[in-house]
Amino acid sequence: MGPDEELGLARAELAALAGQTCIGRVATGPIAADVTRSAYVRLSADQLASGRNWGQLRAAIAQLDLHCENYRIEVFRPGPKVNVHATQFQKLIADLISGRPNLDEPRTQFALVITQEMWRFGVIVSRSARRWDIEGNRPYHCSHGLTSRVARALVNLVAAPGDTLLDPCCGSGTVVAEALRDSIHAWGVDINPALVRQAAANLRFLKLPANVMVGDARRIRGNFDAAVIDFPYGHSTPVESSLYADVLTNLRTQVDRIALVCGRDQSRLLRQLGLTIRQQALITKGQLTRHIYSVSTKRGQERRR
Ligand SMILES: C[S@@+](CC[C@H](N)C(=O)[O-])C[C@H]1O[C@@H](n2cnc3c(N)ncnc32)[C@H](O)[C@@H]1O
Repeated sequence: MGPDEELGLARAELAALAGQTCIGRVATGPIAADVTRSAYVRLSADQLASGRNWGQLRAAIAQLDLHCENYRIEVFRPGPKVNVHATQFQKLIADLISGRPNLDEPRTQFALVITQEMWRFGVIVSRSARRWDIEGNRPYHCSHGLTSRVARALVNLVAAPGDTLLDPCCGSGTVVAEALRDSIHAWGVDINPALVRQAAANLRFLKLPANVMVGDARRIRGNFDAAVIDFPYGHSTPVESSLYADVLTNLRTQVDRIALVCGRDQSRLLRQLGLTIRQQALITKGQLTRHIYSVSTKRGQERRR
């Protein structure tokens, strides 16, 4: 998972993708989730054995009587540092598997996941396909724009490939780009024509359709599975006090699920507007704290029945 400042969002993403809540930085559940489109969740594995310490795990793996050709074992230590020597345990586990490893072109990839509470061993079934250390050198960035990684996680909170998604305050188009990359039919709107031009240039640079237009989020009409709203925070320029309520009142009858980013706690407003809070997280960057909510509308709840 990602940096500590974004851990709350990472946990919310995991719950959205896998329907599981995590203890520390690991979640367990009945089905190994597909995490290829995740922003923070690194991998998903079919757990074969576990134990509170190496001794217990070793005994559990030995009982499996594993035979495997062309495998590789990777060691992960999410969360607070556990002082173990990765290569030592790769060798010890290899001794328990009959068959040859193949480090360069493995057909089976095993994961040894070590946390302070538990040692787990399993077969990797999916892993995040995106790298964030090489974030796009697109032409335009907003000063308070989201990183692509945060934008990706917000999209994952409310939408899946094939869905329709609206970003009604799209700025430089980060959310729209992440959604379009994921085969989500996404559109962006912003009240500021200069930003819409920048968003269009960014999308074209990324070879994505420039699905952005000038408009007022309080007056948009449409029909969408999901929306991601990165509201103006009001830190540098004042925001009309009724903007959040007006935008949400307009969109709650047109959208099923909404991920919101706000500069302050808005849980009371969300409840007053009849929106059900599914997930909540805080992320911090320097002085800026972002309050993130994933909510469902009454329309969304009725359509799910
Ligand atoms: C925090 S910025 C969004 C940044 C964007 N997520 C990005 O990564 O570039 C908020 C945006 O809301 C837009 N905005 C403010 N009031 C609006 C309104 N009534 N309708 C549509 N957009 C609005 C601003 O122009 C600004 O671009």
